[in-house]
Parts: sequence; structure tokens; C-alpha cells
Amino acid sequence: MHFQWYPGHMTKAKRMMQENIKLIDLVIELVDARIPMSSRNPDIDELGKNKARLILLNKADLAEDKWNDAWAEYFKSKGFSVVKVNSKKGGGIKSIQGVIQEACKEKIERDRKRGILNRPIRAMVVGIPNVGKSTFINALAGKAAAKTGNKPGVTKGKQWIRLNKNVELLDTPGILWPKFEDQTVGLRLAFIGSIKDEVLQTEELSLEVIQFLLQNYEGLLAKHYEMEEDKDAVICLQRIAESRHCLVRGNELDLEKAAKILVDDFRNGRLGKITLEFPQDYN
Ligand code: G4P
Repeated sequence: MHFQWYPGHMTKAKRMMQENIKLIDLVIELVDARIPMSSRNPDIDELGKNKARLILLNKADLAEDKWNDAWAEYFKSKGFSVVKVNSKKGGGIKSIQGVIQEACKEKIERDRKRGILNRPIRAMVVGIPNVGKSTFINALAGKAAAKTGNKPGVTKGKQWIRLNKNVELLDTPGILWPKFEDQTVGLRLAFIGSIKDEVLQTEELSLEVIQFLLQNYEGLLAKHYEMEEDKDAVICLQRIAESRHCLVRGNELDLEKAAKILVDDFRNGRLGKITLEFPQDYN
């Protein structure tokens, strides 16, 4: 699923977020573990100030473990609670409940001092399109989520999914938009498939991917496509086309097809776990 970026969408999404955030104690922010910074929207820090904050490094299965750990440390040093998750397979989900309690302990304590006991923590999931918000909510809430479906005759208002007696989750995630006008950010979002492919031609994108891999994951293309790497990305793409028998009119190389194969392999994790940005490059 791809998302179209229209200014109208963004204004509406921002308004929704501002309204909903008033109701909640905890912001659960999903980022893509492969690009934890480029998949964030810095506005969330302003929107979520005075709230407990939990960052989920989602799609952790697609990123390198050592960098997932490094990013977890990075965000913890900035005061966030952090969990690495694979929402698709359920990895990390079990630990979330405990982490929520821990992240909200100040609120629980405040309530206790005021004599308010057992008021559930209210949480909202936020993140950019495609980061995995719906998948995560389903993984966390399971059957409870299914129960909150529309009932005929009932006006659809805000729905809270009761996770247990301590936590309620707003059923509609908050959609944020990344800073895709920043070129590097835009490129990384295109790498992971968050921006429509039309923004950047597949062949162009594949050359960027090749360039990145040559610099950061030397030998990976050679191993996966059984070809010799060259520092020239175009030559690499030609070799991938040869290796994968991507031909047009019998014997001409079909670079477009090879590019598509490479970008798909990359996005789906078939090239292995790959992290695209690193904490030491951010302060
Ligand atoms: P959104 O609500 O934030 O827009 O995202 P959504 O849950 O629709 O997830 C977007 C895509 O990311 C889905 O793939 C989903 O399966 C995948 N996804 C979510 N979490 C994870 C994760 O932790 N690991 C991996 N590997 N993938 C994850 P899709 O291509 O739209 O569908 P499908 O391929 O699952 O059928």
C-alpha cells in the first residue's frame, strides 16, 4: 500500500492528532528500524510534550541487530522508552505491557497521590504511513481489537480498545508525515517504499540502492546476485541484469527489470538485514 501526499491530508491528519493527543497519557510512536530518524516527524516532540513517550523500532526484523541495539540506546539517552518489535510476527509485543507501565509510572504515581486509583492509561499509536501502525495495533490488541468493530446503529465516536484493566488504546492511529522535502530523508523513504515509486524512477532508485550497498555493505550484491561488484553502480546493475537473465528483444539487457528485482529484494529483506542510517550521524 502506498500513500499519496496531499496537503489536505496532512492538515486533516494534524488536526486529528492535536484533538486526540489531549485525551491520552502515552504516545506510542512507531519508527522504521531501518531509518529511525527519517521515518520520524519532528513535530511529534512538540505535539507529545508532557506525555509519556514510547518509541517502537518496528520492522526490526529487516534491520541489523547491532544497529537496532544502538538506536535503542540512542533513544533511551534522549529520555524515551524503547522496544524493538516485529509487528508482523509478534516479536517484542509481549514486553510492551510492562514497558507501558514503566513509561507511565509518574502518571500512575500522580494519580495515586490524588487518590485516583486504577484509572487506565490511555495510549495512542502514531507514525508515518506504512510504518506498521495497523499491524502493530492488531498484534498488541489481538481479539480485543476485533471486538471494537462498527456496530450498526451506534454513532462512530472515538473507540478505545481495552488491552487489560490498566491500559486502553485509541483504535485510530495518528498519521504523521515525514520530512520528505529533505532530500536525504526523501531518498531513504523511497528506499523502503514509503514514497510512491513515481517520485523517483525505479532505475534511478536502484542505482542509489547499489551505491549505498557498495559503500556500507560491500560484497552483499556480489554474494546475492553471483556477480562481481564494480564501483560504478550502472555496471553493477548491468551485471545483475545478466545474472538474472533480464533481457529484452532476445539479447539486450533489461535494466528496468533488473532494477525492479533489486529494489523488491531490498525492500522485502531478501538481501538480508540492512540498516540505512546510523545513530552516530545524529546528535
Ligand atoms: P500503517 O498502518 O502504518 O500504514 O502500516 P501497516 O500496518 O498497513 O503496514 C504496512 C506494511 O508493513 C504491511 O505490508 C505490513 O505487513 C508491514 N509490516 C508491519 N510491521 C512489520 C514488521 O514488523 N516487519 C515486517 N517485515 N513488515 C511489517 P504490506 O506490504 O502492505 O502487506 P503484506 O506484505 O504484509 O501483505
